[in-house]
Amino acid sequence: MKTIHTIAELRSTLAAERAAGKRIGLVPTMGNLHTGHLTLVHQAAASADIIVATIFVNPLQFGAGEDIERYPRTLAEDRDKLTEAGCHYLFAPDDAEMYPNGRDNQTEVIVPKISTIHCGASRPGHFEGVATVVCKLFGIVQPDMAVFGEKDFQQLQVIRQMTADLFLPVDVQGAAIARNEHGLALSSRNGYLSDAELDIAPALNRALRETKAAIEAGRRDFSTLEESAQQALEAAGFKRDFFNIVRQQDLLAAQPDDTLLVILAAAHLGRARLIDNIVIEL
Ligand code: PAF
Repeated sequence: MKTIHTIAELRSTLAAERAAGKRIGLVPTMGNLHTGHLTLVHQAAASADIIVATIFVNPLQFGAGEDIERYPRTLAEDRDKLTEAGCHYLFAPDDAEMYPNGRDNQTEVIVPKISTIHCGASRPGHFEGVATVVCKLFGIVQPDMAVFGEKDFQQLQVIRQMTADLFLPVDVQGAAIARNEHGLALSSRNGYLSDAELDIAPALNRALRETKAAIEAGRRDFSTLEESAQQALEAAGFKRDFFNIVRQQDLLAAQPDDTLLVILAAAHLGRARLIDNIVIEL
């Protein structure tokens, strides 16, 4: 695997691959890679010839007081894992390469409505930062397809809507959530958890599974179910953020007749903010 730091070198390298008839797959990441990210690489390899992973801790998607300074940066280990997973190129730009005119002068991509709810309400500006950097990566790499984890369900919807609205010729694919043996969704932010918190953390997925089972058994008192789950999480040691039963198509509050639902959850545990979700097809 070759590591490339500049847009110019990446572009000329990929132009040659494209001219040779290769399909290009993109796996955007912020590094500190775990098995979940490597699943994205494997999924990309199933429908592309050349896999480009990117590692860029995007300042535009972090709010004031968030964890950009302490976000784990593990480039050497990440490189080994990507090589092992069969990735062909790693693009690892610095801030000046990605935002040459400064962040304040950056054109921004705003995906309305869906960017302002759930994680977007807890983290104002987050999805504008994600949509902007992903749009830039699509422009730089010009991939045929790109893979994003379904753990960030809302992020995937934001990216799908941006891609459709801007007619970007990229096949956006979601990859199933990778979990540890206790059901905890793999995340770089799990590294912030102490051993005791790691024991508590699977309660988030448990609350999602229990709420799903209640809905499948016929419960439609969604607000009560949401509040019970929040209380169970608080009793386990979490601080609440949100636990929302919504419709898959627009992520708005579920109504009793809806059949395609997803429960989106975020909660704070120690220094970590964890997210998870579960889909329900009735
Ligand atoms: O999911 C992530 O790691 C990031 O939000 C992404 C998609 C790489 C954009 O910075």
